[in-house]
Amino acid sequence: MDRRLEGKVTYVTGAASGIGLACAQRFAREGAVVVGLDVQESAEWKQVEESAPAAGFHLGDVRDEAAQQAAVDAILAEHGQIDVLVTAAGVTGGGPVHLVDLEDWQRVQDINLTGTFLSAKMVAPGMIERRSGSLITVASVEGLEGAEGGSTYNASKGGVVQLTRCMAMDYGRLGIRANCICPGFIDTPLFRSVIGNESFPAESRDRIRLQHKLGRFGLPEEIAGAAFFLASEDSSFVTGVALPVDGGFVAGHSVGVVEMMGLT
Ligand SMILES: NC(=O)c1ccc[n+]([C@@H]2O[C@H](COP(=O)([O-])OP(=O)(O)OC[C@H]3O[C@@H](n4cnc5c(N)ncnc54)[C@H](O)[C@@H]3O)[C@@H](O)[C@H]2O)c1
Repeated sequence: MDRRLEGKVTYVTGAASGIGLACAQRFAREGAVVVGLDVQESAEWKQVEESAPAAGFHLGDVRDEAAQQAAVDAILAEHGQIDVLVTAAGVTGGGPVHLVDLEDWQRVQDINLTGTFLSAKMVAPGMIERRSGSLITVASVEGLEGAEGGSTYNASKGGVVQLTRCMAMDYGRLGIRANCICPGFIDTPLFRSVIGNESFPAESRDRIRLQHKLGRFGLPEEIAGAAFFLASEDSSFVTGVALPVDGGFVAGHSVGVVEMMGLT
């Protein structure tokens, strides 16, 4: 590997599992200094530290302004700057609104949307000072489209998409790019606890799978690849984008013609 992020200091939230962990692992292999934050520890984080000796990990909640400030302050004290932010901390939740508890609605907005806002708020001043940086948020295809029972989650992810576009507008002329990755359904612990769970109807799981035009669910490493692109100089003219990395999930509606034509 070319280590194309050599020395880039990266702050990754939700770094203990799934997409955040895959981003941390990829960035570390590319030579970045990776510092993670998560509410849980991760045995796999050791691999990140093995590939990037300067890696660090903070136990903390993205909803906690003081915890995020402390993590960012520690990174700045040790490494002097933050070049890249990846906000992958997130939770699921939802249902038809008449069945949604206010408390659960609030929990999901707080983690997915307010947590993302706080990460960017902490990191932005240093980037503004240095007139450089890449802000990478993680929303979802469900931030681009409605979904049956999506309510809470989709609203939070739609908010992340719009927040990211606004940051691209506010900071573009300072040399700071802001882009949002919108994953399809990705095989992570979060996915396995819901769609991949045995109690989830197999027929619905299959319908969701086939909505991905490639006919399969995604892998966390495939999202990390997009994050790598958005962090690297290869995306130097890309900002304000909500990028589906979704095997074609939002490309259009499947109506059965593919099956009729034998294109399966
Ligand atoms: N897996 C998918 O199919 C999928 C699809 C689209 C978008 N996403 C989004 O990708 C992101 C990562 O999801 P994942 O599938 O890797 O899930 P995951 O559960 O494997 O990882 C999420 C991580 O976020 C951490 N986290 C949760 N709440 C936190 C908090 N309050 N503070 C700090 N850390 C917290 C968890 O501890 C966990 O380590 C989420 O924002 C999710 O909504 C996932």
